[in-house]
Amino acid sequence: MTPTSPPSTVLVTGGAGFIGSHACVELLDHGYEVIVVDDYSNSTPQVLTRVERIAGRFVGAVYELDIRDRRALSAVFDRHSVDAVVHFAAHKAVGGSTRMPVEYYDTNVGGTTALLRTMHEHGVHQLVFSSSCSIYGDAGPGPLDEATPARPTNPYAASKWICEQILADVCHRCPEYTVLCLRYFNPAGAHPSGLLGEDPHGTPDNLMPYVAQVAIGRRKRVHVFGADYPTPDGTAIRDYLHVMDTVEAHRVALDHLADGPGMRVYNLGVGKGSSVLDVVTAFSEACGRPIPYEVAARRPGDVAELVADATAVARAWGWRPIRDLADTCRDAWRFQQLNPHGYAGSARRPNTKA
Ligand code: UD1
Repeated sequence: MTPTSPPSTVLVTGGAGFIGSHACVELLDHGYEVIVVDDYSNSTPQVLTRVERIAGRFVGAVYELDIRDRRALSAVFDRHSVDAVVHFAAHKAVGGSTRMPVEYYDTNVGGTTALLRTMHEHGVHQLVFSSSCSIYGDAGPGPLDEATPARPTNPYAASKWICEQILADVCHRCPEYTVLCLRYFNPAGAHPSGLLGEDPHGTPDNLMPYVAQVAIGRRKRVHVFGADYPTPDGTAIRDYLHVMDTVEAHRVALDHLADGPGMRVYNLGVGKGSSVLDVVTAFSEACGRPIPYEVAARRPGDVAELVADATAVARAWGWRPIRDLADTCRDAWRFQQLNPHGYAGSARRPNTKA
């Protein structure tokens, strides 16, 4: 464990989720006091027991609440002296967002404004916001930098873009705010211990957990959504970023909240595109056997290529990903092997009483 300076208390919303749980480990490892709120809508309380086991430290408190519930949120801020918030809590399935747009706007946008209002009432003005490359829409090919115009093509992406605009306006009007907005490309993989990984409820929407479940035998084959894209092998290209690199960027962001007020926006990605078939091949190598797949129709709302130009964050903070697709698949496979049924059946950490 390495010490941090100065010690501070960070509220992590969605702290039991895929990226949130890995972020908790990273923050605990660096001496932060971590408070978690989560509604477990796409996660389980068991995750936090694993977080504490890896970090060798306890999470300060865990509250089960809906991020839109200002009364419950306010009680958390009353009880803890929060210095900064890392806000992950949101719905994230692109397909689900096209079927349930109102729910997505309510949770993702309404959740963010509820959080902001509560922060404001408690004099907390430092936020790291979880945004998404999906706001760029169909802007490829070629690496996209932060100046690429936002053209969201689905309600999930639109909800993230609306939040970014709200946060930019708040920072513009209220000089006490510092907001660091991180636009992730495709976070994937798992903690190298194999204790923590991606365990979505139901059928995975995302490629990497789906491939992992095929590899372990829970599903028959991968459905490759479209092989007629204008890419070298015809399948869609994404920029897969190891979740540990992703959360390291958040820890570095916390250090840079002190750089001064205002909103700053950075892409987080590797800067290298991998096709769906590249992922299938890399995972086959990681697990030592071929992953069966079949080509299916394109998924509505998908785009051909999304690859990051992440040079701005490297210049500003010196953050660069250090893991590649092979590392990402190896760690995702280790988690899947050690947890063939995800977190089901593992020990549950009790919530803190509100
Ligand atoms: C999307 C968002 C991204 C968000 C992520 C969170 C877009 C453009 N990107 O990523 O910002 O962070 O969701 O969930 O909206 N695929 C298959 N078979 C599968 C699953 C996926 O072929 O079973 C393909 C998809 O068509 C896509 C690629 O794999 O081309 C990656 O898909 P996925 O993992 O779902 O991520 P995105 O849709 O890129």
